[in-house]
Amino acid sequence: MSGGNADASTSVSAATKSHAGKKVFCVSVIGATGAVGREVIQLLEKRNFPVSQLRLFCSERSAGKTFQFRGQTLVAHTVDREALVGSDYAILCADATTARSMAPMLAELNIVAVDNSSAFREDPAVPLVVPEINGELLNSKPILVANPNCTTIVSLMVAAPLHRVAQLERMTACSYQAVSGAGLAGMHELESQARAWASGDKVAGQLFPRPILFNVFPHNSPRQSDGSNEEEHKLARESRRILAYDRLRVSATCVRVPTLRAHAVALHLEFTNAISSAQAVDILSRAPGVRVVDESNGDQPADPQMASGLNEVLVSRIRVDHGGTPGKSLALWVVGDQLLKGAALNAVQIIEQLIAG
Ligand SMILES: NC(=O)c1ccc[n+]([C@@H]2O[C@H](COP(=O)([O-])OP(=O)(O)OC[C@H]3O[C@@H](n4cnc5c(N)ncnc54)[C@H](OP(=O)(O)O)[C@@H]3O)[C@@H](O)[C@H]2O)c1
Repeated sequence: MSGGNADASTSVSAATKSHAGKKVFCVSVIGATGAVGREVIQLLEKRNFPVSQLRLFCSERSAGKTFQFRGQTLVAHTVDREALVGSDYAILCADATTARSMAPMLAELNIVAVDNSSAFREDPAVPLVVPEINGELLNSKPILVANPNCTTIVSLMVAAPLHRVAQLERMTACSYQAVSGAGLAGMHELESQARAWASGDKVAGQLFPRPILFNVFPHNSPRQSDGSNEEEHKLARESRRILAYDRLRVSATCVRVPTLRAHAVALHLEFTNAISSAQAVDILSRAPGVRVVDESNGDQPADPQMASGLNEVLVSRIRVDHGGTPGKSLALWVVGDQLLKGAALNAVQIIEQLIAG
């Protein structure tokens, strides 16, 4: 067996099913060495998640890397079936191809999985869940749950509470997406370009098709036949699916910007029913997982540095959209840490809700 964290030095207590009367669970993180996986490890510790054993998996590239969890050193291993046996939950933080190849094995082993990739987001048999918005889909106790696209989660955390009150008709979203949306390699690319520039060296792109330092460009996901890119299509399709509202019209322009983490989105929302900016402030002030940045107190509007490391999605600049239907249109500036609420946190919350239910 190549994995399994089986040696005592790499496991956190025994994989018992109860500890001091509290149920505890064996959790496997697949893709633990990446940008999202690392956040999952930290969240499980910070949230005091009831873990009996944490197993960390990666590809051959990073096998042997170590991570601290509750004062112990855990080693990441390559995945194999034997190493997964006995896991209660798996959080998949790898690419879509890896997720597709592993999902059948996880189901066969009766391991409840939450997948961060795009592999199952359009599969009608797999619920696409943001707990604050459509968490009721978890009541059926699915064996596999899809975590939505990060820009979609950040946008809908704010759009959904308003939709519930005034019925959204159209959402225009222009995103400013951090380099960590492309994984650890994206962060390394921006950092190494900054170092190269500071040393007077040539700034060249490897992961991204052109330099990201001092630059912005349309999201480099594959171009679709209508001229949109795949990220823009995901935002449209997944928003309709999560809101269970096929008639929602979505216009998206997704852009990569040279920030390290937290995606920002300029949202323009058009509603069926009247809604004022004061009502929107009131609704969003009460929305779980959302924090209104109150500029009337002199606070600056939210920015990616403010949102980095926060569980909540920040919303500011809540105002009338003067280009929309009078009384029914709002413009908002939304910023959320896409590695947290846009990925790792949402996945952990899904499992917490499954356990609680
Ligand atoms: N980054 C975001 O903001 C974000 C937001 C929402 C969703 N997502 C999705 O979350 C997933 C992870 O993204 P990321 O940003 O964390 O990417 P990343 O930093 O590139 O990490 C990818 C992880 O997958 C592992 N991996 C690759 N092939 C594997 C295999 N065959 N078996 C086991 N592990 C394998 C990698 O291991 P090695 O270290 O060995 O390469 C690494 O741990 C992706 O599907 C992404 O689309 C990302």
